[in-house]
Amino acid sequence: MPVITTIDDLKRLHERRVPRMFYDYAESGSWTEQTFRENTTDFEQIRLRQRVAVDMSGRSTKTQMIGQDVAMPVALAPVGLTGMQHADGEIKAARAAEAFGVPFTLSTMSINSIEDVAEATTKPFWFQLYTMRDEDYVARLIQRAKDAKCSALVITLDLQILGQRHKDLKNGLSAPPKLTAKTLANLATKWSWGIGMMGAKRRSFGNIVGHVHGVDDTANLGAWTAEQFDPTLDWGKIAKLKEQWGGKVILKGILDADDARMALKVGADAIIVSNHGGRQLDGAISSIRALPSILEAVGDQIEVHLDSGIRSGQDVLKAMAMGAKGTYIGRAFIYGLGAMGQAGVTSALEVIHKELDLSMALCGETSVAGLGKHNLLIPKGFEGDWQP
Ligand SMILES: Cc1cc2nc3c(=O)[nH]c(=O)nc-3n(C[C@H](O)[C@H](O)[C@H](O)COP(=O)(O)O)c2cc1C
Repeated sequence: MPVITTIDDLKRLHERRVPRMFYDYAESGSWTEQTFRENTTDFEQIRLRQRVAVDMSGRSTKTQMIGQDVAMPVALAPVGLTGMQHADGEIKAARAAEAFGVPFTLSTMSINSIEDVAEATTKPFWFQLYTMRDEDYVARLIQRAKDAKCSALVITLDLQILGQRHKDLKNGLSAPPKLTAKTLANLATKWSWGIGMMGAKRRSFGNIVGHVHGVDDTANLGAWTAEQFDPTLDWGKIAKLKEQWGGKVILKGILDADDARMALKVGADAIIVSNHGGRQLDGAISSIRALPSILEAVGDQIEVHLDSGIRSGQDVLKAMAMGAKGTYIGRAFIYGLGAMGQAGVTSALEVIHKELDLSMALCGETSVAGLGKHNLLIPKGFEGDWQP
């Protein structure tokens, strides 16, 4: 077992062990990847304020997200095709999250289905919804998530159409991979991935294939998304979805204070400040820079969460100290999954937890509730002085 001390260690193993097409799928942003890059480099701009001679015993990273107890304020973000990074990837990630005590969010575009994950876990997980043109299908999907006792519906708002990621087009991304000379040559070097996949429960989209009338080929993700995703999604439809669900709703993909106010108006329980990990609107602001203005607009009335760019416990600390009430990791857990399956996801969570715990101590804090702007050194003009 390799010694893992950082998320980067897991990323290197992920790259070595998983077919290029799926590594690239995780490791890309849209177009020039400016937003993808700035999600991480903007975190680096913020410094932590070191404090000394503070009793650091009895520390805890425990807190709550949407009223649910969490071992630390870090949920696993919904990630499509997780089951292509490792056989039965969604089941493995959900089990790791459950054992660790953090929420797992299953993507609509997962390989394992809602029912597969429910069967393999004992506690409720969260379900992420993409809205499709086919309203009957969406209604059935919501019912399936209810039947599986999912405890929150995460509705993603920033992907009605797909931002272009050049590598996916060049690699011919598909699930399962199409066997061309190029993919076969690459697969030949990833034998442990291949052996795992031979025994996998599923190799295509478990929530879709067999559940959408007339759709039996989802292999070409780009074409399928263009055809099926609902370009007419608006706030009225979001309010209806909330009603249909009847439980806790988290709106994902908010990057603007005006949209945050709309989310509040439709009665969401929480919002996720997110730019989809830099995979949608290239040129959009990083999530951590967008956070202060959104907190100012709605932070005292709705729970504000954040994702995009978190690669360490120090990043989690920065987001929480700025005022977020929870964070999500996408790639950080995917690197772990691709590297070592369930043990790799656990390892990613352990790395982040240890970094958060020790950094809190070195900042002189013993609880998540105690974190605040007083822990941060934020450069002047960090939010940007943008002309509308
Ligand atoms: C490979 C990949 C697939 C993703 N698929 C989905 C998805 O199906 N649904 C969704 O709402 N977000 C999806 N996202 C976005 C994540 O939920 C999350 O917003 C993003 O990964 C956060 O950025 P980070 O990877 O820097 O942590 C995906 C992200 C990645 C990297």
